[in-house]
Amino acid sequence: MNKNFKKILVFILIVIVIFISYILVTSNSKTEKPSLKKHVKTEEKKKLKLREGEELIETTSKGYSVTKLKDIYYVDGVLIVNKTYPLPENYQPINPYKEITSDYLYGGDYIEEKVMNQFLKMQSDASKKSLSLKISSGYRSYKVQVDLYNNYVAKDGKDAADTYSARPGFSEHQSGLSFDLNGTNENFIDTKEGKWLNDNCYKYGFILRFPSGSEDKTGYMYEAWHFRYVGTKLAKKLYNNGSWISLEEYFGINSKYND
Ligand code: DAL
Ligand code: ZN
Repeated sequence: MNKNFKKILVFILIVIVIFISYILVTSNSKTEKPSLKKHVKTEEKKKLKLREGEELIETTSKGYSVTKLKDIYYVDGVLIVNKTYPLPENYQPINPYKEITSDYLYGGDYIEEKVMNQFLKMQSDASKKSLSLKISSGYRSYKVQVDLYNNYVAKDGKDAADTYSARPGFSEHQSGLSFDLNGTNENFIDTKEGKWLNDNCYKYGFILRFPSGSEDKTGYMYEAWHFRYVGTKLAKKLYNNGSWISLEEYFGINSKYND
């Protein structure tokens, strides 16, 4: 074999190898699922209009997106705190209404300003009907929740405590978006205030956060006194003409501790 012929043969072989590699790569990229997924995710992100630093975590069973920003979870843009989605230990209300007024049953408490403003409207309308509404517990820090939860565990045991008290970091009270009204009395729903709130709070953007019959979804027993601000649009949907739907059911999310 002369030298030139050898060179030509090597060249032809190289061309064949390059050609086969090209065919393999292009056929794979057409069927490769991860790259398709990536594309879908990018499209979802565009639609979601994620904020700087916000990441898409998952899509719920009802098709809503769960996102995370600064270790805070949002479902369809609504801040969520339950047994699955905790708040960071140092989280505090962002724009708190700090003024301590007689609107608080025990004083020394504060919640998000927009939530307080809606509460004041609700309280004013309620008072026109001779109903008295007072916040008995609004924002609770992580530290306060540590003491509260530990006391309940000491009193009733962990399993029982978990049905009515959130572990530190998992309480919606830490968000400053929710409050208990007029105490934590099991008979609250039988009072005229309890009944009126059950039927009217949604008009001010509040929801009954732990409805009766939703214990499996919310992870907590019925609390006729605990309300959460979500805005009037979502509150009306969850009010559901008087048959309250929990946030968990509506969004298709869980409320379960990992351990
Ligand atoms: N009682 C409610 C579940 C809380 O502790 O946040
Ligand atoms: Zn509460």
